[in-house]
Amino acid sequence: MINALKKEAIRINERKKSQPLISLQQVYKSFGATQVLRGIDLELFEGENLVIIGKSGSGKSVLLKCIVRLLEADSGNISVLGQDMLEVDQYTLDRLRAQIGFLFQGSALYDSMTVKENLLFPLRRHPERLFGEDEDDLVYDALDSVGLAHTIDLMPEELSGGMKRRVALARTLILRPKIILYDEPTSGLDPITAKEIMELILEIQRTRHAAAVIITHDMYCAQMVANRVVMLIDGRNYAEGTFDELSRSRDPRVRAFFK
Ligand SMILES: Nc1ncnc2c1ncn2[C@@H]1O[C@H](COP(=O)(O)OP(=O)(O)OP(=O)(O)O)[C@@H](O)[C@H]1O
Ligand SMILES: [Mg+2]
Repeated sequence: MINALKKEAIRINERKKSQPLISLQQVYKSFGATQVLRGIDLELFEGENLVIIGKSGSGKSVLLKCIVRLLEADSGNISVLGQDMLEVDQYTLDRLRAQIGFLFQGSALYDSMTVKENLLFPLRRHPERLFGEDEDDLVYDALDSVGLAHTIDLMPEELSGGMKRRVALARTLILRPKIILYDEPTSGLDPITAKEIMELILEIQRTRHAAAVIITHDMYCAQMVANRVVMLIDGRNYAEGTFDELSRSRDPRVRAFFK
């Protein structure tokens, strides 16, 4: 166990020598008088699954939305794939977003479209990411990789919650993102289905070589999928480490997550 931990720490340090794919410095975001993000520093490195854990309402979804500029941060620096997100023009922003898969909290499928149409949607917006391949093949492959090829002609209302989450994941994968942002990928699912989604996240990390930020308030999910965990408290990155390192912390605010 100790050796495994050491190896994990070495792997993390090696990753840290590479350029981060995402880098946030002192990011602030308020809504009126509510200060949500209060000086976040964060980096995502190649190949890693970074879990951000925090209480409900602590600003996890706001943080992800600021990264892709669905929300405008009030101040600070946000760089993604080497580009300054707060300075890029609309064209570059669109191209960057095509390289970032975003699994929204809930599943956010289009209810009036079939599964296939849902998956085609991002491809139609970003035809440059077809890479000369047949779109039907891409849809089939993406669905097959989440074990749902047979649902291709179904409507979202015909799917269970777990299936919807998988279809949303397939839609996220279809543009072959370099970075995947998962917002509460397991929330609202029963424990067995949640575990299947966690296994899928690990498989995606292995086979697609994408780095991921995974937002959750589920410690079991963090333990299962994280190479590194950041704890969000009071709008800041309060603590960071492997799951096992944090589990040994004596800080009462960190310990509170393990109760
Ligand atoms: N568009 C918005 N306008 C105003 N306030 C917002 C907006 N989005 C989020 N907030 C506020 O920001 C705070 C953080 O919200 P956020 O959705 O990021 O929490 P969260 O950590 O994702 O919680 P949960 O675990 O419940 O998903 C909350 O107080 C919320 O009311
Ligand atoms: Mg949220």
